[in-house]
Formats: sequence, structure tokens, C-alpha cells
Amino acid sequence: MNKLSSGHGYSRRASIKCGVASAILWPSCLTATAAAREELSFVVVTDTHLGYRDKDSAAKLWQKTAAEINQSPGEFVLHLGDIVDGGREEQYPIYLESRQLIKKPVHEIGGNHDPDDLFQKYIRTELSTVVDGGWLRSLLVNNARRDSHDGFLSAEQLKWLETQCEQAERDDCFINICMHVPAHPNRHPDRGWYVKPENGKNEFEDLLRRFQHRIVAVMHGHFHNGIRGWNDRHGVHEICFPSALYNLNRGLEEKSAPGFNPLEFRAGYTLVTIRDGAMKLQYKPTGADLSVAKEWQFGKAI
Ligand SMILES: [Fe+2]
Repeated sequence: MNKLSSGHGYSRRASIKCGVASAILWPSCLTATAAAREELSFVVVTDTHLGYRDKDSAAKLWQKTAAEINQSPGEFVLHLGDIVDGGREEQYPIYLESRQLIKKPVHEIGGNHDPDDLFQKYIRTELSTVVDGGWLRSLLVNNARRDSHDGFLSAEQLKWLETQCEQAERDDCFINICMHVPAHPNRHPDRGWYVKPENGKNEFEDLLRRFQHRIVAVMHGHFHNGIRGWNDRHGVHEICFPSALYNLNRGLEEKSAPGFNPLEFRAGYTLVTIRDGAMKLQYKPTGADLSVAKEWQFGKAI
């Protein structure tokens, strides 16, 4: 348990060893007693954008990615939005066909490219839902809109989140909040897309503060920047996950942007493993040679 930290310090280490590109995070809510919970692993995939540029390359890559996810040890899969590109309805059945390759539960949220009515027609009738995976309860909220890159949390959604956090506390579950668009403020050299003050920023931050002892992470897609994250709000790790279609290196490390952005930008998915108070993110580029490995560590007190 000596790896645990309640501090919000930032530290960084890069090393080469066998394995795959990975980041190790220490959620401050996983205290010594909480960390005794059993190991948990799941897959996060996002931004598949089927139909991108009216080509079938995204669908082919998704088929390959889905087959690899099926072989991964994760117990369930979270898809964090932008299932199809530009609301292309004909792509949803294609997405679902490859999704069948994954013989474990898959739970999606909509992104700004997924119209609500099509999401409800093809994926699930509820836009927001709760997913229990062992002791971790994932709260999936659709905070994206088709006409904006920003995130939006309505009073109703914030109330739903608050109610779910209270319930998770009563049920002694830890919490993982998932929504397509990041809540964490960011600006140049980042994208500048987030939940702005007029769209629920302060209320959400208040939720993070109130339930910081329960919230393991806040997870997003949307950025296409590999693994991009911060942990400067109440010790909670807020993470954007790599797109399964394409990622761009925006040079955030060289430009000393706040937070972290490990230098891996291939298309892929992420295996999340939580054990002994540490949350390991293993970035799995689809179809890539995994012989090169890097490891980064974030959020551990120095
Ligand atoms: Fe998006």
C-alpha cells in the first residue's frame, strides 16, 4: 500500500521495458483500505467514426479493433462516443455487426457525431445509464451536442449525477464518470473544447469536490490526442482516451501544456486495470507491433 498517495503532486517517469505503452495513475480516493478491493480490468474505446470521409477504412479498422478487444482480458467495454462520423445512419448496423465480435458486455455513450434519435434507435433507448463492473460503478452521461464541440451538462443531468453519486456511496461503490466531451477546462495548445461555465462547469466541479473520496476517474473521448489527462481538480484523474481511428500529436508536451499526454498517437484502444490503488492504462495500438514499450506515471506525490 505504500504506493498510495493522497497528495495531488505531479511526477513523471519514462522507461523502456517489455510490454506496451502505458500510464500509471494513482486516484487519490483509493485510500489504503479502499485499495484492498479486488483487481478490476476493462477496455475503453472511443471515436470509431465509422463512415469517416465516406470511406470504409474506419469500418475495417473497427472490425480489426473489435476482434482484438475480444481477445483482451478486460471484463467489459466502454465506448465513449462518436460511434459513427457525421451522423451517418447506415454506419450503425455496420458498427453493430463488428461489435458482435466482442463476446463481453459493451456500453456506449453518444458523441457529438451521434444524433440522439439514431443512438436510441440502434444502441440503447436511454441516453444516460449506469454500468456496474465489480466495485466500480460507471455513470455514462451524454454531454455532447451535434452543433458544438463543447460539452453541456443540463440541470437535469447534474441532478442525475448527484443522485447516482449518493446512491453509489450508499452501495459502497467507487465511481467512474464517463462523458464524451471533457469537463476539464483546456485552451490553446489544447482544443479548447470542454464544459464551459455557462454549461455546467462550476456545478460539475462542485460534484467532483463533494465526491472526490469516491470518484476514481472521469473519462472522455473527443480529443483524438492519444491519452490526454489532468489531475489538478480535487485529486480526480480526468482522462481523454485515444481514438480507435486516428490521433494527432499536438505537441502538448513540448509546449508544456498542463496535465499529461504520453507520446503515443497510433489508433487503438486502452486496457484499464485497477489494482492496489493504482490505475494502469495500457494503450494498445490496433494491429501494431507491441515490442516497443514506454511507461509513464502520473499523480503520485513526489
Ligand atoms: Fe467528438
